[in-house]
Amino acid sequence: MCGIVGYIGSRNAYPILIQGLHRLEYRGYDSAGVALINQSGDLNVYKSKGKVAALEHYAEEKDTTGTIGIAHTRWATHGEPSDINAHPHYSQSDNIAIVHNGTIENYAVIKQALIGHGYTFRSDTDTEVIVQLIEYIIAQNACSLYEAVLQATKEIVGAYAIAVIAKDNPDQIIAARRSSPLVIGIGNDFYCLASDATPIVEYTKKVVYLEDGEIAIINRNEPLKIMTEQNVESKINICKLRMSISELEKGGYPHFMLKEIFEQPKTLLDCLSGRVSIDGKNISISGIIDNKDKFLRAERVIIVACGTSWHAGLIGKHLIEDFCRIPVTVEYASEFRYSNPVITDRDILIAISQSGETADTLAALELAKSRGAFVFGICNVIGSSIPRATDSGCYIHVGPEIGVASTKAFTGQVTVLAMVALTVGQLRETVSNQTFEQVATDLRRIPSLIEEVLKLNDRIHDLSKIFTYAHNFLYLGRGYNYPAAMEGALKLKEISYIHAEGYPAAEMKHGPIALIDNEMPTVVIATADSIYDKTVSNIQQIKARGGRVIAIVTAGDQVASSIADYAIEIPEISECLSPLLTSVPLQLLAYYIAVNKGRDVDQPRNLAKSVTVE
Ligand code: G6P
Repeated sequence: MCGIVGYIGSRNAYPILIQGLHRLEYRGYDSAGVALINQSGDLNVYKSKGKVAALEHYAEEKDTTGTIGIAHTRWATHGEPSDINAHPHYSQSDNIAIVHNGTIENYAVIKQALIGHGYTFRSDTDTEVIVQLIEYIIAQNACSLYEAVLQATKEIVGAYAIAVIAKDNPDQIIAARRSSPLVIGIGNDFYCLASDATPIVEYTKKVVYLEDGEIAIINRNEPLKIMTEQNVESKINICKLRMSISELEKGGYPHFMLKEIFEQPKTLLDCLSGRVSIDGKNISISGIIDNKDKFLRAERVIIVACGTSWHAGLIGKHLIEDFCRIPVTVEYASEFRYSNPVITDRDILIAISQSGETADTLAALELAKSRGAFVFGICNVIGSSIPRATDSGCYIHVGPEIGVASTKAFTGQVTVLAMVALTVGQLRETVSNQTFEQVATDLRRIPSLIEEVLKLNDRIHDLSKIFTYAHNFLYLGRGYNYPAAMEGALKLKEISYIHAEGYPAAEMKHGPIALIDNEMPTVVIATADSIYDKTVSNIQQIKARGGRVIAIVTAGDQVASSIADYAIEIPEISECLSPLLTSVPLQLLAYYIAVNKGRDVDQPRNLAKSVTVE
């Protein structure tokens, strides 16, 4: 949520900052801006409502020179999206500029105090308060920019990743973080910084992840210095990025979302690789093996997540209860963090997050940890905040996901949850060898089976044209596929703006059936599972009321396909893994309907991919 970029070095900063903003646009795209200090020492700030392209257009004829700069792409929290509220914000004297990702909870109090000291404000943002406070501290104490930022971070309450530059100090960027991510890239003759590594990787693979409470002093041509909030120098821990630039490009696809849907055979192969043995007899998840005792004595599992990751968590509950015989609850992280949960040291909390930065999920895991739970993370972005806050975990390794609507991360999360459930089940001896081998072998088949499902692309594209103008959609599924139905509905809602609800098929009778008519399509997941016959009855009930049904069925299906208006066949697979296949046609259906409607598929309105605010 909001992306920040900074650069200091020997090259012109502007193109690097703009390219960085494009990479971070998935974090928010309602306005963008850049601040640069040129050779003459002028601090030029350009900002514009709209996407990064609008900023580029605005800055076309302006002086965009300078080898130091900071930039921002915004997802509005305080103040509507506008030129004025766009970052960077600058201080009263126009001498200091700041970019910020996060929210400052006590901004109103500080603002009032600063108004009392004669400060006036141009924007409605909480961010402007920080930069004014920094200027005030410098004026009062005649201190350095670093000292003022240090002092300011002690006074502000909330979440922030900030980068600050000052006109009278053209050789320095000060950056700080608390609860919002910040990565610093180290080059031979430059430093860059960003909310994640994607803007950095094409310039350097050497990065430092700033820890909570740390402040970086980034001086031109000098070694990087990182200080704690106690003003003590921290040890610099340099990590090597494994990401490649091609992973950040569309690679010939019209949208990242379509690319990411089609990448799933490969991403799941990467996710499984080195973990499931060829004979299907072993699964190796080191985060579990190294903490064997915790999993052996666990009395309960609590899964916390948001959005798509929460849907993966619902599938995880079935998997863990089936194979490990441990009771599992699945909680919205945002609700869990403000509840007063009963937690013991025999609880395992699993935090699922693609970005590894979702503020609610991070807060939920910290609460559980403080009450004694063992915390296990399932994340995608390496080095992000959640994996660093957990006791152990397992990356899904599906590569950067750029489309705001999550696709390959969902299937990666479900795949990891299946491996976790089987591994723990084997440890606890609650899963038979036969079931273990059957499911593990099927897991290895998943990439090639998804390859098969993707061959349905053209058929789903055709089908999408029939339903593009529906105003409402119902998605039904049961058991393992009830969460898959919810996820299908979420995908459609997110990118096409069509209202869609996911429901357990049998619950339809208790409300949603009242909505059924020939204008409201229902997508029913009716694969050959243990309750197939019941789902078929649900399809009959919809047809009896004139509804139109798209059924997702198992290859060779006779009954459901003959009653439904349209049937999409997926290959046969163990029931517990079927959501990995049923979710793919639903991703494609949502994608094509959104494209038909001319929606901005990769950057749907009002959404952001990494939700670092509450
Ligand atoms: C946002 C994204 C969703 C994502 C959710 C949770 O709402 O738009 O795609 O599922 O956040 O994100 P996480 O990174 O924690 O999985």
